[in-house]
Amino acid sequence: MELKKILATRRSVRKYLDRKVEKEVLQRVVDMALSAPSSRNTRSTRLWVVTDKRQLEIISQMRDYGAAFVKDAPAAILVMGDKDKTDLWLDNCAITATILQLAVVDEGLASCWVHVNDRPVKREEPAGEKADTLLRRELGIPENYGILCAIALGYSDFQPADLPAYEGEERVKWL
Ligand SMILES: Cc1cc2nc3c(=O)[nH]c(=O)nc-3n(C[C@H](O)[C@H](O)[C@H](O)COP(=O)(O)O)c2cc1C
Repeated sequence: MELKKILATRRSVRKYLDRKVEKEVLQRVVDMALSAPSSRNTRSTRLWVVTDKRQLEIISQMRDYGAAFVKDAPAAILVMGDKDKTDLWLDNCAITATILQLAVVDEGLASCWVHVNDRPVKREEPAGEKADTLLRRELGIPENYGILCAIALGYSDFQPADLPAYEGEERVKWL
């Protein structure tokens, strides 16, 4: 798909058809995402592809706000960074996650970013357990991996509205 079309089509979708995403499709998405640039070519980003129902449920419970829909997603990809490789692991993760979301559109799927890094499990307890601590414990994620987000994905259950045009002049300044 043409990049302009991909950018115009991408919306956050949280409701998916009850349809498995084929392994080869997931593989192509991962391949495209891992073509992302990285600081000093450190290639610190790690992707874990989750299709197991129980593990998707764990991800859906990592926060009591904004993550529940992951339970019914056919897949989610955890975007993590090896902190031993670079102090810019978060930046590298964010670039990879963004390209991943565009790759998802290219494959005819839809996705939604579900934030992990530094978010509390309970919205009302900001100083309590963090979502990344919960995921690390429940999914056996190594200590040296920081977790930026999960990208939930699947075939969209509906046709999302087009992206609105960006607002006013404060978004861009011409010097
Ligand atoms: C850094 C970041 C964190 C986000 N975290 C969540 C989240 O935890 N849960 C969720 O449902 N959506 C999350 N989103 C999706 C945004 O809500 C969504 O991108 C925004 O509302 C704009 O809508 P659009 O993606 O359809 O353009 C996140 C998006 C970004 C970029």
